[in-house]
Parts: sequence; C-alpha cells; structure tokens
Amino acid sequence: MRDRAIGRYPERVKRFHVTTFGCQMNVHDSERMRGMLTSLGYEEAAERAEADLILFNTCSIRESADSRFIAHLGEAKRLKGEDPERTVGVGGCWAQSVKEEVFERFPFVDVAFGPGQIHKLAEFLNSDSLTAQGYFEFEDFAGHLPTRREREFQGWLQIAQGCNCRCSYCIVPSTRGREVSRDPGELLLEAEALAADGVREVTLLGQNVNSYGRDLPTDTRITFAELLTRVDAVPGIDRIRYTSPHPKDMKEDVIRAHAELPALCEQIHLPLQSGSSAILKRMRRTYDRGRYMDRVALIREHVPDCAITTDIIVGFPGETEADFAETLEVAEEVRYDGAFTFVFSPRRETEAATMDGQVPHPVKVERMERLVEVVQRRAAERAQRFVGRTMEVLVEGPSRTDPTRLRGRTRHNKAVNFEGIAEAGEMVDVEIETATSQTLAGTSVRPLSQLFR
Ligand code: 5AD
Ligand code: SF4
Repeated sequence: MRDRAIGRYPERVKRFHVTTFGCQMNVHDSERMRGMLTSLGYEEAAERAEADLILFNTCSIRESADSRFIAHLGEAKRLKGEDPERTVGVGGCWAQSVKEEVFERFPFVDVAFGPGQIHKLAEFLNSDSLTAQGYFEFEDFAGHLPTRREREFQGWLQIAQGCNCRCSYCIVPSTRGREVSRDPGELLLEAEALAADGVREVTLLGQNVNSYGRDLPTDTRITFAELLTRVDAVPGIDRIRYTSPHPKDMKEDVIRAHAELPALCEQIHLPLQSGSSAILKRMRRTYDRGRYMDRVALIREHVPDCAITTDIIVGFPGETEADFAETLEVAEEVRYDGAFTFVFSPRRETEAATMDGQVPHPVKVERMERLVEVVQRRAAERAQRFVGRTMEVLVEGPSRTDPTRLRGRTRHNKAVNFEGIAEAGEMVDVEIETATSQTLAGTSVRPLSQLFR
C-alpha cells in the first residue's frame, strides 16, 4: 500500500500547492492547511505543476466562484493524468455543498472535506487508504492547528463558525452548519500566542461575529463587545478588525467599543444587501431600512470618522425598479467608504433560487452599473476627508503598481501607496496627498516623537 505522507520518492520532500477561493474565512483555513502540511513535513510548491498534493479551498457563495474553480480543477485532472501518484484534495464550502457527489463528478479527486475539517486532511494523508474519502461533519475547530501566515504581522482569530440566520439567498447555513462560538479563554490564549509570534493586527472572523457567545455555557459566556475588550488588552495587538457583523445584532456596546478601545479600528463592515424593506423581508434579513439607518446614525454619533463599508445584492427576486431606487438612496445617504456589490446568483437548495420574480440578467447588469457609479462617486468624495491628514499606516511591502513606493493600510482599512523607507510590519505616519475611491497616496513623515530622540 502506498503511504501518502512519504510517497514514491522517500528521499524527496513532498510538496503541496493550495489555491484559495472565497472569503477571509477560507484565506484563514488555507493558512491552517499550510501550517498543518508544513508540520507533516511537506513544502509549499510555487506552481501547481510541481506539487505532489494539489489542494483547492473552495467557495460556493456565487455561481461565478463555482465555475472559476471548475476550470482550475480541469488542470488538476490533466496533471493527475500525467502522474497518477499525485493527490488531489478539495476542501471548503463548495465541497461541502455537493458532498459525495464530488467523487462521482470528478473521479480523479482523492479527498474532499468541508470547511473546518482541515484536520481530516491530515488523517487522510497519514492513512493507508487508497479509496477516495469525504469528510463533511461539522464538528471541530481548526483553531488548535498550526498556521502559516501570509504576513507574519497580520493574523486571524476564528471566533465562531456556522450561522443561525436563514437569509433566503445564502448557502452558508447549509455549508457551515449551526453557529458554534469558541471558548473565550481559548481565544485569549490564541490572541496572546499570535502577539508573541509578531502579530500586530488581528481580524476576528465569523459568519455573524456580533452574535458571538450566545451559545456558550453561562459560566463562560461573554458578549462580542467583551471579547473585543479582552483582545484589546493583549499587549502587542495594535489593531483589531472583525468580519462580518449582522446589522440586526449591531448593539450600542460594540459601536461604543470603537470609540473606547485603542486597538479597535475605525472601520465597520455593515452588510446592507438591499435598501428596500420589502426586499429585506424576502431576504429574511430581520431588519428594515429604518433600523439599518439607525445603526448607521449610531455609528456616526459615537465614531464620526468611522469608515463604513458594505455588501449589496442587486436583482434579488421580486426587486422592482422602485426597490432598487431605495438601494441607490441608501448608498447615497450612507456615503459608504467602499462596497462589495453582487449580482444575485441563485444557489442550490436556497429559498430564493426558486422564488417568483427572478430578475432578467440584462436588468441585473444595468442596475449593477448604476449602483457602482453611486458607490464609487460617494467613496471618492468621502476619501477626500483624509487629504492633508497624517495617518498611521501598517506597512505591507512594495506598492503593486510602482515598486519604488511602499504600500500599507490605515486603521480605516484604506490602502495607501506612499513614498518612504520602512520594513513590512512597521507602523509609519504618512501624510496623505491625494485620494481616490479605492486608494490614498502620500509621503511618510517622521513622527515628532522620533525627531526629538
Ligand atoms: N447571490 C449574490 N450575492 C450573494 N451573497 C451571498 N449569497 C449571494 C447570492 N446567492 C453576497 C452577500 C454577502 C456576501 C458575502 O456575498 O452580499 O454579504
Ligand atoms: Fe464562500 Fe461563504 Fe464559504 Fe466563505 S463561507 S467560502 S463566502 S460560501
């Protein structure tokens, strides 16, 4: 029998390649895969063609994500055809949504596993089994697995998994299961370990982060705002972000925390989905336009400078021109710092996929163009408030467009390209000179404290 962890060439180190689709939760899961495989003695290959173990961490939120992934899977099939000793693994939400069907549709796949089942990949690699295996229960967290972070100064903290909401368009409850919060003590230890390992910016992850804790036993139960307070107190953590909160659970204590906790960034991602109360109802979002706008007003009251970003779906079934006009109005009124805009995509086994009033594709596309115009114009206007200000930037490395310049992010999560000399992971002050809807540009300045040293 073949030993997958050692393989055909016992003297040669096995190599893996992982391709990630989808959200930050998946980016984090892939970092866990990298960490786990490294501890199993694998090395990362730069190209898929050089890998013994070809992995995909998949997403199924929209149809476009499925089709992009299937094109990549075609290449894995070809590579496996060239060398049948290769192992092909498919993890994540798409794998979970089609389960065992993976093996019928794609017989060259050796192992498939749902989100949060990364440890099962290790079990598979260490087993002698030659038959294809699928692992799809919702049970453990990958929290205890080692991680290989993409940037050593940025880390993720998965605080919960699953989702108890029933948004009628969303496949996540069926791919990630019911909501399960992680023990706060364990999370704090993990935050401390990240800080000790050089992480300065931590992003708390969950499908609905601000409902954190409700399922915990009474003796350990804390709220999301309390969790933020405890992470804020960890020495070395200079910046905290989280994604995504649900507007229905966005309570005043969390909003106030943005004003009070030094590390908690001035940035809130508050998914709107639609500006029409009638559509929000069909989406089962459990808030209406008025309640959403109240949340925005509360944010503006406590943290006037806070960046607000959002997700919006256009062309949900039953969306009339008047409903869409309300979405445009909300986008104008809120003046988002940025927005992710999606054309509604019917997902299997979701309620919205079979609802009456499916919107014709050309109408969706036309509405999307109008929405993008409003979002970009408002974001560009709003970004002008940064011009002339000196802002703290966490350096990420050279600029993508001009390698003689540097790139980093402000606390508002705006990307900045700037003139200056600094190492990745350093915090520098940058004077902002120009701003577009997407990025800021400027020159680094020496903080006063350093000038007088
Ligand atoms: N169609 C289009 N967009 C969707 N989203 C989730 N499900 C769908 C769907 N079926 C969007 C939502 C969510 C973001 C992550 O993806 O806006 O907030
Ligand atoms: Fe995609 Fe949602 Fe799964 Fe993230 S949780 S990978 S967005 S389906």
